[in-house]
Amino acid sequence: MVKTIEWNAHGVRLIDQTILPQQKIFVECKTYKDMAEAISRMQIRGAPAIGIAGAFGVALGARQIQAGDFDDFYRQLDVVCRELNATRPTAVNLSWATDKMRKIALDNKHLPLQQLKDLLEAKAKEVLAEDIAANRRMGAYGCQFIKDGDTILTHCNAGALATGGYGTALGVIRVAHEEGKKIQVYADETRPFMQGTRLTAWELMEDGIPVTLNTDSMAGYLMSLGKINLVIVGADRIAGNGDTANKIGTYSVAILAKEHGIPFYVAAPLSTIDFKIRSGQQIEIEARSEKEVTHVGNTLLAPAGVKVFNPAFDVTPNKYITAIITDKGVAKPPYVENLAKLRD
Ligand code: MRU
Repeated sequence: MVKTIEWNAHGVRLIDQTILPQQKIFVECKTYKDMAEAISRMQIRGAPAIGIAGAFGVALGARQIQAGDFDDFYRQLDVVCRELNATRPTAVNLSWATDKMRKIALDNKHLPLQQLKDLLEAKAKEVLAEDIAANRRMGAYGCQFIKDGDTILTHCNAGALATGGYGTALGVIRVAHEEGKKIQVYADETRPFMQGTRLTAWELMEDGIPVTLNTDSMAGYLMSLGKINLVIVGADRIAGNGDTANKIGTYSVAILAKEHGIPFYVAAPLSTIDFKIRSGQQIEIEARSEKEVTHVGNTLLAPAGVKVFNPAFDVTPNKYITAIITDKGVAKPPYVENLAKLRD
């Protein structure tokens, strides 16, 4: 399985997800600004992966800081965290990770600055290792919902590429496959950024998991043909009541699933749950460039100058979600109570 992101002797190396699967090229981030740029350009993407990139970005930023004392160091670290957080607003894992790094700095303010920088680097590496372990746990909790012979629909890429490795929704699918269940996956192409076409189809083929690619608009027809037994998606931010922001188009898939009596599961680590917000209405939705909609690659398809609507995410209300699979267990409705139990 491909390494999405890793710390090496030069800084942080990540696989460029904008050009996969045609080319396997790695990006080297030596400064926190390199990392902010890689996140904004979606060379690294997917909520948990962005969280890890955020933690690594803070560690890179800490290394660059020249400061005489802790207060001066922390002021500069705060600027680093804010710049990283501003790159993509919807996935809560980013601010979750930068907040975690800030707290580590504050809790260890007594250390000499070089030691503190080393500690931040070590802790960022732990964020990566913990994410991979969390994905494995999620897979173990979630695979009970997949039976031998099932066909699963997924939307976007919630795989190894969207995480430190293994994946959330695809992690659950991977465990079922490793257990020997004969499963098949339909992957929505995921317009406009094509994470399904470029990343999910590629990841599953690499693992030998049978996958069929379909355009987003085919999901309803597929369900009407009785071809889909369950849907599993990832999440970018889950409100305390279970409302879930995920890749644009997820909401439509959830309603289609409900109409066809198909269970709809969300798989996400606890770090994706934003207990500070009570409903999905409070989730900021990132707007992305018009070019993602008007162009395919560098070719303009739309009439020049047309107005464009390009939100990167939508919110699926909790009533459409059968269960939320986390690294601490599975929550079913009522989500306010049952998600809170997992947190304790
Ligand atoms: O815009 P992206 O590609 O970062 O969006 C990613 C998604 O919406 C994923 O489904 C979500 O982050 C879950 S990833 C484990």
